[in-house]
Amino acid sequence: MNDILHQLRCFGCGARIAADKAQPDFRCVECGDLFEVEYPGWKERKGPDRPNAGALKWLWRERRCSSEILDHSGVWRFRELLPILESFGNAISLREGNTPLYHLHRAAKRLGIDQLYAKHQGMNPTGSFKDTGMTAALSVAKEKGYEWVACASTGNTSAAMAAYAARAGLRSLVLIPEGKIAWGKLSQAMDYGAVTCQLPVDFDGCLNILTEIVRQSPIYLLNSVNPYRLEGQKTPAFEIAEAFDWNVPDHLIVPGGNLGNSSALGKGFRELKELGLVARMPRISVIQAAGANPLVQSFARDNAATLEPVEAHTRATAIRIGNPASWRKAAQAIQETGGWCLDVTEAEISVAKAEIGAEGLGCEPASAVTLAGLKKLREEGKVKSNDVVVLVLTGHTLKDADYTIDFHRGTLLSEEENGGANSAISARIAELRRNAIVVDATPAAVLATMKERA
Ligand code: F0G
Repeated sequence: MNDILHQLRCFGCGARIAADKAQPDFRCVECGDLFEVEYPGWKERKGPDRPNAGALKWLWRERRCSSEILDHSGVWRFRELLPILESFGNAISLREGNTPLYHLHRAAKRLGIDQLYAKHQGMNPTGSFKDTGMTAALSVAKEKGYEWVACASTGNTSAAMAAYAARAGLRSLVLIPEGKIAWGKLSQAMDYGAVTCQLPVDFDGCLNILTEIVRQSPIYLLNSVNPYRLEGQKTPAFEIAEAFDWNVPDHLIVPGGNLGNSSALGKGFRELKELGLVARMPRISVIQAAGANPLVQSFARDNAATLEPVEAHTRATAIRIGNPASWRKAAQAIQETGGWCLDVTEAEISVAKAEIGAEGLGCEPASAVTLAGLKKLREEGKVKSNDVVVLVLTGHTLKDADYTIDFHRGTLLSEEENGGANSAISARIAELRRNAIVVDATPAAVLATMKERA
């Protein structure tokens, strides 16, 4: 561990500790809040003492053509900004990051925005943004000599952890809420060899139990309470800034579950600004599902001074979280950048997901809250037609194929959820549905079907 270059700072009380003094649950012994990784001296470096921004930007771009394995990673390519390992040779990488930024032509047209993009984190090796965080934190676990790593998960964290643990030769333990995660994700944990326990509690319950376990046994906790996860997950901010030639977009829209990702992206843009690599931060907005919206309620109640946990319900199972660990960090990212926190209904999520599918990209339901949220921000005049907007699509469409099939078959939503047969949203759902059709095995029948559907 590179303790000389980094330390941990408590987000609640500001206490600073050496990296090797962290508790197994990564909570501050003084106030119980979470830590973040801090690199002493970065903020203070002024004038000629600052890192040479031009040289760093050149180096990071140049590494994309390098034959060095570590340079193929979209996380470790930026290693100057995450000096968390004793030796970068210890990094466990699956060539994560360097994900595509797609223009969303049709959605942009519908919304009257010129520049609407999707940063597709579902194009990572295990199909979600979790890989960028896992390469960082699992490498720390390996360097520290742990034999076991563990996480509680709504599915994607466990898939990523199991894969990276397998690559590193470590054992992994997964706790998931029974019957409440998508099959694609569960199959990944099994495939990569994790010990997978389904518990009859929700995600928040799984995390509570795991917190007790890591206090009792030498198992390294890999949920996003682990501050090293966020160091990896901040790097898509660097990729986005680089893609816009270091002019950041006006808006970044992120789904909110346990709220680690929005916190990490906020940290990424903040550090770029502090180091003089970009001039400003994008407005960061966090979108939750209406049935799992504790941060939205917290903003409405007291501008995010406190958070009351909720009982979470949504078909976007990845963000079915009622007591998000990183809520204070996410609230700071929203407040300091002038972003917003809002929620969207099950019907709005399903429409947005189908629209992203119709662009030839696809994503999992939790990712589609970003487009559904953007529609609201646009209606409320918070996003202007000439703004540059980036949606963070967090997971691949194949993660939850059941959801997609149910949508196209028309069995996903209840009448109540889609506002009744005559509602505007029902009409839009009908336009977007593309169920598979049973057709006679003759050319004439297939051609007739094509004609009918045209
Ligand atoms: N989108 C997807 C696809 C996710 O898997 C998650 C979280 C989120 C968004 C929300 O991100 O928690 O950082 O606010 N999934 C976690 C898991 C909780 O266990 O896989 P967040």
